[in-house]
Amino acid sequence: MKKLVVLTGAGVSAESGIKTFRDSDGLWENYNVAEVATIDAWDVNPALMVQFYNERRRQLKTAEPNEAHKIIGELEQYFDVTVVTQNIDNLHERGGSSHIIHLHGELTKVCSDRGKRCVQDIGYEEFEYGRKTEDGGMMRPFIVWFGEDVPLLSQAAEAVEQADILVIIGTSLNVYPAAGLLYYAKPDCPIYLIDPKEVQPVTRRVEFIREKATVGMRILKEKLLQCK
Ligand code: OAD
Repeated sequence: MKKLVVLTGAGVSAESGIKTFRDSDGLWENYNVAEVATIDAWDVNPALMVQFYNERRRQLKTAEPNEAHKIIGELEQYFDVTVVTQNIDNLHERGGSSHIIHLHGELTKVCSDRGKRCVQDIGYEEFEYGRKTEDGGMMRPFIVWFGEDVPLLSQAAEAVEQADILVIIGTSLNVYPAAGLLYYAKPDCPIYLIDPKEVQPVTRRVEFIREKATVGMRILKEKLLQCK
């Protein structure tokens, strides 16, 4: 089976009703990223951060995977698929994908603020700041905030290096190191990029499919099945 790597960003979940970050009315228009998504902010106003991610969890509970997530899941019948996602939602899992690298963490998990130990699944449960973890640390969302390491980066880079086909969906490619992953692809690896808008200039040869994720994946599925 050929190896297909799908690199996704917020746009793949937009049609499930989850806001992107940088589109107009995106999350970073309504919240200050420095206050809710940086490691420095955890020392300043952790309660606000816990609240921010509680809201995201509440929203995720009612969201459903869309056709793009489902097609990516179905492609496992024909390809060895790895999803590398910047998204913290669980819509790829619920859409049927089984190999997922969550570069920026997972909304349904929490950990200790002492070295991110004691990772625990809390599902859609909300919690207040002040809850302790087993190691005596404070419970925090299991999210990679700006200013923190991206522990799964090398695993993601390795997957992209081994890809026979790379698909990029719904990311503005603004945030590094995730945005640099496509440069790990072999020179002859075809790269498809699905996004309704112009994306940051990409220096590698890329075939653009200027559509929303659902329509784009419908089109791409047909192409991919011809070269499986
Ligand atoms: P962005 O909000 O930066 O980019 C979203 C992309 O999705 C844009 O290129 C949109 O044009 C596109 N888009 C919008 N609707 C779409 C649709 N229906 N189908 C397909 N594409 C669509 O989101 P990311 O690139 O994912 O990190 O952001 C990267 C990181 O920045 C996030 O993981 C998050 C954020 O700060 C952290 O919080 C650590």
